[in-house]
Amino acid sequence: MKKTVLTGIKPTGRIHLGNYIGAIKPALELAQIENPVYFVADYHGLTKVQDAEQMKELSYGIAATWLALGLDPSKSIFYRQSDVPEIFELSWILACFSSKGLMNRAHAYKAIVDQNREAGREQDDGVNMGLFTYPILMASDILLFQSDLVPVGKDQIQHVEIARDLAETFNRQFGETFKLPEYVVEEESAVLPGLDGRKMSKSYNNTIPIFEEPDKLRKLINRIKTDSTEPDEAKDPDESIVFALYREFASEDEINAMRERYETGIGWGEAKRELFDVMNDVLEEPRRKYKYYIENLDEIDRILAEGAGKARAKVRPLLTDVKRKIGIYV
Ligand code: TRP
Repeated sequence: MKKTVLTGIKPTGRIHLGNYIGAIKPALELAQIENPVYFVADYHGLTKVQDAEQMKELSYGIAATWLALGLDPSKSIFYRQSDVPEIFELSWILACFSSKGLMNRAHAYKAIVDQNREAGREQDDGVNMGLFTYPILMASDILLFQSDLVPVGKDQIQHVEIARDLAETFNRQFGETFKLPEYVVEEESAVLPGLDGRKMSKSYNNTIPIFEEPDKLRKLINRIKTDSTEPDEAKDPDESIVFALYREFASEDEINAMRERYETGIGWGEAKRELFDVMNDVLEEPRRKYKYYIENLDEIDRILAEGAGKARAKVRPLLTDVKRKIGIYV
């Protein structure tokens, strides 16, 4: 029996290589062997993005990214979260069974409270209720599809655990209803370094956008921090940001050969050119597809509408079951 693997990306920024290597690539690999349910989490994005134009642009961007990187809509359920109202119905139901204390303990919310306290602001400054109840909507995403596996970045582990908690609470009171989901984290790649060597992250401003045009990509690669060893001096590949990125895009043989060149001495300029070449090779085709979809938004709309139809048909029986169990007439 194939497992249901579900994951969403919220449209809050441009997708960069850290997102790709740490979350999207492993999710697409899982999609090859399991039943994928992948979506654009636009209503999660609304907790942050509150400008209409930006919301539209970023949402289409996420959809085009999934498609460009190889998600096959005919072999998956691929939709925009906001097109599936059943998710929001279940979200309310789950909210009524979630203790407020559980939300108070969510890392993302706690981090904001800590920042506010440090800055001497009121503790909930800038926190909207969507942000506060974010984990409940995410639990609804996960539980409504009876997900077995949820590929996520490390920062999202707690959210999957909260989904499990809520499922257990409901099952205990009303009998077996929801499957208990498990998270899948890409351990090794979770630490893809950015231009400055810290974890690649939007908040560090050290990212490489995945569909960057070749000349810009080259410029970004040239900005990667290196040490001051001379071109013919030996270099430790495992200490190099350039090599860490190279590994993610080159073949096994290329990686081994490059390792040797580092150890016998390679100039940083050349190492960076080699990095550009393998990266560009891998990203060229997806970049072209991405452009195609962005220029043909009606095609994205059509694909997402079809996906929403499939999604709604799949989840309706479970939602009906849940409503009956809590005594809501259906
Ligand atoms: N919260 C996730 C993130 O920020 C996005 C997301 C929303 C998600 N719903 C989900 C991920 C359900 C996995 C499953 O990355």
